[in-house]
Amino acid sequence: MNLFQQQISEGIPAALPENNKFDKALNHAPKRKDILSQAEKKLAIRNALRYFEPRHHALLSEEFAAELNEYGRIYMYRFIPDYKMHARPIGQYPGKCQEARAIMLMIQNNLDPQVAQHPQELITYGGNGAVFQNWAQYLLTMKYLSEMTNEQTLVMYSGHPMGLFPSHKEAPRVVVTNGMMIPNYSRQDDWEKFNALGVTQYGQMTAGSYMYIGPQGIVHGTTITVLNAGRKIAKEQESLSGKLFLTSGLGGMSGAQPKAGNIAGCITVCAEINPKVLQTRFSQKWVDEVILNPDELVKRVRSAKAAKEVVSIAFLGNIVDVWEKFEKEDLYVDLGSDQTSLHNPWAGGYYPVGLSFEESNEMMRRDPVLFKEKVQASLKRQTDAINKHTAKGTYFFDYGNAFLLEASRAGADVMKPDGTGFRYPSYVEDIMGPICFDYGFGPFRWVCTSCDPKDLGITDKIASEKIQELLKEAPEEIKQQLNDNLQWIQGARANQLVVGSQARILYADARGRIEIAEAFNEAIRIGVLSAPVVLGRDHHDVSGTDSPYRETANIYDGSSFTADMAIQNVIGDSFRGATWVSIHNGGGVGWGEVINGGFGMVLDGSEEASRRLKSMLFWDVNNGIARRSWARNEGALFAAKRAMQQEPLLKLTLPNLVDENLLDKL
Ligand SMILES: NC(=O)c1ccc[n+]([C@@H]2O[C@H](COP(=O)([O-])OP(=O)(O)OC[C@H]3O[C@@H](n4cnc5c(N)ncnc54)[C@H](O)[C@@H]3O)[C@@H](O)[C@H]2O)c1
Repeated sequence: MNLFQQQISEGIPAALPENNKFDKALNHAPKRKDILSQAEKKLAIRNALRYFEPRHHALLSEEFAAELNEYGRIYMYRFIPDYKMHARPIGQYPGKCQEARAIMLMIQNNLDPQVAQHPQELITYGGNGAVFQNWAQYLLTMKYLSEMTNEQTLVMYSGHPMGLFPSHKEAPRVVVTNGMMIPNYSRQDDWEKFNALGVTQYGQMTAGSYMYIGPQGIVHGTTITVLNAGRKIAKEQESLSGKLFLTSGLGGMSGAQPKAGNIAGCITVCAEINPKVLQTRFSQKWVDEVILNPDELVKRVRSAKAAKEVVSIAFLGNIVDVWEKFEKEDLYVDLGSDQTSLHNPWAGGYYPVGLSFEESNEMMRRDPVLFKEKVQASLKRQTDAINKHTAKGTYFFDYGNAFLLEASRAGADVMKPDGTGFRYPSYVEDIMGPICFDYGFGPFRWVCTSCDPKDLGITDKIASEKIQELLKEAPEEIKQQLNDNLQWIQGARANQLVVGSQARILYADARGRIEIAEAFNEAIRIGVLSAPVVLGRDHHDVSGTDSPYRETANIYDGSSFTADMAIQNVIGDSFRGATWVSIHNGGGVGWGEVINGGFGMVLDGSEEASRRLKSMLFWDVNNGIARRSWARNEGALFAAKRAMQQEPLLKLTLPNLVDENLLDKL
């Protein structure tokens, strides 16, 4: 065993490592609210000390108390490993089963400083999307994974490894729950409190389920969204050339917008308040240009419009200032959105206009009441400016970040005159729902565990060939989708999308996912691919997520406030062959606002893998198709009937549609 393998196998080290790991150069989570009483602080420290032998308690209790007071959480910085954090080729992980090694690779990728938003606070994206609550949990989990066999299942409670339980070969190797609360305890401050106590965490979607693949995961979805938003405003066959897309955020997911804008062929202006975040995206070449001055920005956009350039511009500053400036200068915005982290509005997700980045960080902790007032006033100003633009014709859509929800709570003018809903659509209502999810298209993805770009290239080629085959017999209803996805996969390599593990995302429906996965499995079996491939998806998909303000926003039968689909999904995946499954409270729009789940599946070229992938992927998509068709969604009705033709064992309950005239008479 080499040193890295020894360290993984050791878990929490017997001798205390030095407390010198906090790295100022990295991007750190904002200091969290000081929410615990004195007695609760003692409880948090008592909880944290559970991971360590009593001989260390005197020293660690003081250290953890200091962390809690300084940062509002106990991260246990001392225990950050001294090896480099990144996904390694699967063979480099110690262990007794291939699946566990693959999961270790995925965990390390989620914590890689190149990938993660606040790596030392174990946050992958979205400001609070945690893989673990503290470093002891990480160390212990990796140790368990390094010793588990395929007759055991590791049970994860919100980052805490409860232990290895005997199970069987066909069972998931890991079952993850994140943020599962008694429903009445799911308010924002409940997260602050129970997370500070060390008993729960916000797993976002792919953070707490080890399935994040860097902003690429979202570029594809964002490209589809921008392209289709463009089609919505297009006159005849007009393209997005010379049109302006104004938005905000260069963080975990939002950072994908400039690249997506480039692929879609427009001019993108993206405001970002945090200089470190902006610099990261610029150095990764995810955005073409950086502008610091509003007047210069206006000048540059005008020249880009005149020359119909395809260019993405990052503006260092507040998005509210940009909306207002463009209004004042009468600069026409074709498409508008927002991707500040408004699912987390009071703790660093949204920076109010008029305060510097540092002033906000200071105020949210020192005076949270005043900070909340500033955020709400800023949302009102932002909405007023957006309303002026939309009055001139701008197409504005909510990007699932709870912008409209929080703006409405702030009293901004975002409701329809009759009060029946928001005056702007969410991207799911207008685009992602009816065009993608209802037909079964969602963010399928895979990771080559060899970590070899050559393998990724082979998978791209296989996927591209499969889509071309599918296109030959595809019905009209899904041809556009398949063509967009073909274009995506063919350009994926040239667009240099990989950050972290050798991963690829590709929107696909059930049939596409199964055929592509089956072809990968075969390529592994015959040695064309050099190592196993991990399959997965974003939770933000056809069936994985119940979220009335996002994924299920286009469900109009009243069931969008139920969460049966996501729960059914994860249970169904678990007994149809997933290697790991997860179910989370919170993700995207916020704690208490969504239940979402996902899976990971290791393909190793075996016959069992082939059987599992067919069974599980079919369910994983068609569960949502069934629910969406029962909600009378047109595309889903089409997809449900098609799925039943393809699989005679599938028998779905389909709705009878009612003549609206009958109801009008009542
Ligand atoms: N991209 C998608 O497909 C998608 C889908 C659904 C939801 N979302 C939502 O989008 C939001 C963003 O996600 P993320 O992972 O990028 O989060 P993030 O926290 O990593 O990034 C948000 C960025 O916005 C910046 N910001 C905040 N307030 C600002 C302001 N007033 N002006 C300029 N910049 C400001 C922050 O500094 C931060 O870097 C989340 O709420 C997420 O749930 C994204």
